[in-house]
Amino acid sequence: MSPFFTKNEVKIRLNKSKNKSIGLVPTMGSLHEGHLSLIKTATKENDLVWVSIFLNPTQFDKKNDLINYPKNLNKDIKLIKSISNNINIFSPSEFEMYGDKIISKVYNFKKLDSVLEGKHRKNHFNGVATIVSKLLHLFKPKNVYFGEKDYQQVLIIKDLINIEKIKVKLILCPTVREKNGLALSSRNKLLSSNQRNSSSIIYNSLKYVAENLYKSDFKSIKKNLINKIEKINSFKVEYLEIADANTLEICDKINPKKTYRAFICVSINKVRLIDNILLN
Ligand code: PAF
Repeated sequence: MSPFFTKNEVKIRLNKSKNKSIGLVPTMGSLHEGHLSLIKTATKENDLVWVSIFLNPTQFDKKNDLINYPKNLNKDIKLIKSISNNINIFSPSEFEMYGDKIISKVYNFKKLDSVLEGKHRKNHFNGVATIVSKLLHLFKPKNVYFGEKDYQQVLIIKDLINIEKIKVKLILCPTVREKNGLALSSRNKLLSSNQRNSSSIIYNSLKYVAENLYKSDFKSIKKNLINKIEKINSFKVEYLEIADANTLEICDKINPKKTYRAFICVSINKVRLIDNILLN
């Protein structure tokens, strides 16, 4: 079965499985265990699963980031088939998704996209929302699956679902990590093995924030952690922040009645690694 369905072919297939529940796992390919865990969860919870593999150009603000993004469609297909032969793969061309105008819609996500990733990657979330909207309208899935590593993306997509009144349940799945704690990401493939080992400091720093926030003030914790991380060759902290887990309002002090997360982005020779942790 070819993964290169057109949107019309997808519609025909969906029509044939009208009474079946559909689970959608949107990806940009270069799949890793994190994606596979989303796909495995989706296969347990739905009659039919579709995985989309589409490297979405409108969510990249830097051309080189898009060019260097790891790609391996044949390996991706094998990995998906190793879970089940019944999973459908949709790997469209840019033209199929955008026609000849590769541009994103402009959404109003208010505060949600003005901080953290939104502050550092211009128009990124408009690009994410544009493609996710196109996919949700095409597949009309019962459930759509995303990983907790991209927590800000998840809040944006929840908002998109509200704005466009799309009938779908967003399922948030836990971050899958390497043994040293590094959150799995397609971008990890761009790191040397030394950099990969040293990147354990990213999750360790988040855990340090979670464990010490009640003993010490965040400003000094942040200063010390940034110093420690930036002592490693080529490691640069783009941000380390605490934010309200629902509104993403950035703060230094936390109110025990609300829920917060700590967010971090470290760039290593332009490879950006993000992670976050729930603070209780
Ligand atoms: O998280 C991703 O891989 C992408 O942002 C997504 C949701 C597939 C949209 O291109």
